[in-house]
Amino acid sequence: MSLPLLELRGIGKSYGGGWLRHRTRAVHDVSFTLETGRPEVFAIIGESGSGKSTLARMILNATAPGEGQILFRGRDLATIRRAADRRAFMQAVQPVFQNPFEAFNPLKRVDRYLYATAHHFTGAQGRVAQEAKADEALHKVGLSLAEIRGRFPHELSGGQLQRVAIARALIPGPALLVADEPVSMIDASLRMTVVNLFRRLRDELGVSIIYITHDLATAYYISDRIIIMQRGEVVEAGDARRVLMAPQHPYSILLRASVLSADPPEADAAEADAAEAGVPAQPWSPAGASLAARSGDVP
Ligand SMILES: Nc1ncnc2c1ncn2[C@@H]1O[C@H](COP(=O)(O)OP(=O)(O)OP(=O)(O)O)[C@@H](O)[C@H]1O
Ligand SMILES: [Mg+2]
Repeated sequence: MSLPLLELRGIGKSYGGGWLRHRTRAVHDVSFTLETGRPEVFAIIGESGSGKSTLARMILNATAPGEGQILFRGRDLATIRRAADRRAFMQAVQPVFQNPFEAFNPLKRVDRYLYATAHHFTGAQGRVAQEAKADEALHKVGLSLAEIRGRFPHELSGGQLQRVAIARALIPGPALLVADEPVSMIDASLRMTVVNLFRRLRDELGVSIIYITHDLATAYYISDRIIIMQRGEVVEAGDARRVLMAPQHPYSILLRASVLSADPPEADAAEADAAEAGVPAQPWSPAGASLAARSGDVP
């Protein structure tokens, strides 16, 4: 048996707690494992403030856990200190951010980012080699260098720009993408093209994807497994279909209601019919619905 790709063991994180200050328990006792050689779309769902981004930052080794361990291919992230090790980790685990317009400098042509990443992570020297890497990555996301060459971020749609961001994340040849609300800023009509891309990357490149969202319908359509978080804790976890068929937790029951009300096609047909599938125009958020108000605060 090879080592797991990613293993979270009892991860916790609290903020604050100084003199007379509330301590916020952002994440508490989260454990899950992604296996090596079994690429999957792993969705982390939860209402606003449930700890999803905090968890993502810990997986990206941008924030240290307060409790527990995160192992990537068997190595505890806390032991990654040397520049070469950090670089190797960044090569294997790449982020995709929420707002592509914030991820790119508005005054910089987007192709330049791809060349710089190709130079940094693949050692491609010279423009011709960098362009070849950029074009190859862009084809994986359904674009080409010819389409984006010389363009500024505002000259692309949100969906196109997010695909450029994903292409950039693919250049280092990652094994894992951590995508924190990658479609919530994207127009509804383009949203499914981006989420379906994750499935394609899983199937064609063998990349695993942690897909963080509060958009229950897209999470259901593209995920293999789902964990549902509330106030920093995992309240339900498992196979995406099972969670939907036999929901136990109120949040999962809402998940089923939202997916059913979207009148979905068979999941496999979703790709073709995405726009008509009734994926909500706004990210479906149960915040303020029948669930208890969020409160990650502990005295
Ligand atoms: N740097 C920080 N300092 C203090 N508190 C923080 C910090 N980052 C997050 N928190 C708190 O931790 C909790 C979890 O926040 P987090 O951003 O992880 O939630 P989220 O699930 O990503 O929410 P959203 O869906 O709104 O993005 C919240 O109560 C938040 O206020
Ligand atoms: Mg967040």
